[in-house]
Amino acid sequence: MNLTLKIWRQQDATATGKIVDYRVTGIEGDMSFLEMLDVLNEQLIHKGEEPVVFDHDCREGICGMCSLQINGEPHGPDRGVTTCQLHMRKFKDGDTIYIEPFRAKAFPVVKDLMVDRSAFDRIQHAGGYVSVNTSGNTIDANAIPINKDDADDAFAAATCIGCGACVAACKNASAMLFTSAKVSQYALLPQGQVEATDRVLAMVNQMDEEGFGNCTNTGACEIECPKGISLENIARMNREYLKASAKG
Ligand code: SF4
Ligand code: FES
Repeated sequence: MNLTLKIWRQQDATATGKIVDYRVTGIEGDMSFLEMLDVLNEQLIHKGEEPVVFDHDCREGICGMCSLQINGEPHGPDRGVTTCQLHMRKFKDGDTIYIEPFRAKAFPVVKDLMVDRSAFDRIQHAGGYVSVNTSGNTIDANAIPINKDDADDAFAAATCIGCGACVAACKNASAMLFTSAKVSQYALLPQGQVEATDRVLAMVNQMDEEGFGNCTNTGACEIECPKGISLENIARMNREYLKASAKG
């Protein structure tokens, strides 16, 4: 396949970016989207031009680092996959593909297609953990009976990889799906109950401080999420937040 790529180039967070056109040749359907960008970068380096900067790490849908807006959709046209799992067979010879960074005020551009998602880390640091003292006579976690539905829902929430596609998909750049997944994975389990009140208040407050928008129930986040994180988590987080606020 030979393709025309329209790629966002931006020197740093303060520079003005722009779309630049590239031609890339020799792309196979079995290549991943990131491998296609590797080919482009090799061709650019060969010509003495600066390669395009983009984020990646595991390249197998686990780490959440890859983060491209492809033809206007976070992680591109496929469903339930990250950018690194998207294959070029989804495109055809002669296609024009727009490639942009995830856009949100809370995700400033580092360079080109790479954005700074440390706002997510700060939300996690605000309460996404259990800090119960584990020294002494603690009970083995496997010995605590947990309702199967709750265990399944907690596990499903815990599959969020923190990629930020939900934010990029949302017209309000809301981080509610991400934050609610992190709140839910503890709210559903007995181990999470001890710090439940402080956790939801701290994480929601941090989310607001980072400049993410609010949820207006459009549901674009759920559709674009590569891990199928459900909107039910947002409803659960809202209930947890109300409960915690009432307790003061
Ligand atoms: S909720 Fe989905 S889209 Fe949002 S950060 Fe988690 S995995 Fe990514
Ligand atoms: S590079 Fe790790 S999820 Fe895509």
